[in-house]
Amino acid sequence: MTVIADGPATPAATARSLDVGLDVYQPQEDSYLLIEAMAAVAPAEGMTVADLCTGSGVIALAAASAGAYSVSAFDRSPAAVECARLNALEAGVDIDVFEGAWTHAISTGPYDLVVCNPPYVPEPPQTCPVATPGPALAVNAGRDGRQVLDPLCAAAPALLRRHGTLLIVQSELADISRTVNTLTANGLRSSVVAQKRVPFGPVLRSRAGWLEETGLLPVGKRVETLAVIAAVKP
Ligand SMILES: C[S@@+](CC[C@H](N)C(=O)[O-])C[C@H]1O[C@@H](n2cnc3c(N)ncnc32)[C@H](O)[C@@H]1O
Repeated sequence: MTVIADGPATPAATARSLDVGLDVYQPQEDSYLLIEAMAAVAPAEGMTVADLCTGSGVIALAAASAGAYSVSAFDRSPAAVECARLNALEAGVDIDVFEGAWTHAISTGPYDLVVCNPPYVPEPPQTCPVATPGPALAVNAGRDGRQVLDPLCAAAPALLRRHGTLLIVQSELADISRTVNTLTANGLRSSVVAQKRVPFGPVLRSRAGWLEETGLLPVGKRVETLAVIAAVKP
């Protein structure tokens, strides 16, 4: 099943307005596309869920609100952890928020459902710095945008129970096919289940010139395709 969402920016019905400070990633198109795909492809009801890279906790909250059996959320940013805990408290839902790298979920799992909106934006080298609007930890992912995606694809089989599902959202700028192919090579049934074309936000606008120079971006292009990839453990 493929959710193609090419309409205007509309937060998923499950998302509520969240308190998010300047230090925490503001839920946006990628967050909402993943929430919509979760509802359509891998409903959280009754599932043990891990939300890796939780930020404000928006995806974890959607899973908890959908009736997940349990939700564990992970983030390296102390500000994000505080924000996600507060948002869970305000929403009256039970989410265990852990401060630390997403890799901790390998030892707390396996899970029925793992969701992740990782940092995936290609990052200019130190010699060519550009200002990053918003928290850099939320977006910067090395020169090819795959600093989290590659280890996540490698860890996917260990994170999932049998018949469990991993949902990852990412940009075409970080090579969607590589994610699908790596997950398939690691023994999971993997495919793109949702796509959305969106105009560049402030981060990509600020580094469009560098992306054009590297050849990652055709000259003048200022839209990207976001995709949700699902991978099921047989
Ligand atoms: C793109 S934001 C996504 C936030 C939220 N899940 C959403 O969809 O709105 C990525 C988040 O990953 C966190 N992060 C970055 N590297 C991480 C890592 N290695 N382990 C855990 N969290 C990480 C950042 O602090 C940030 O909150």
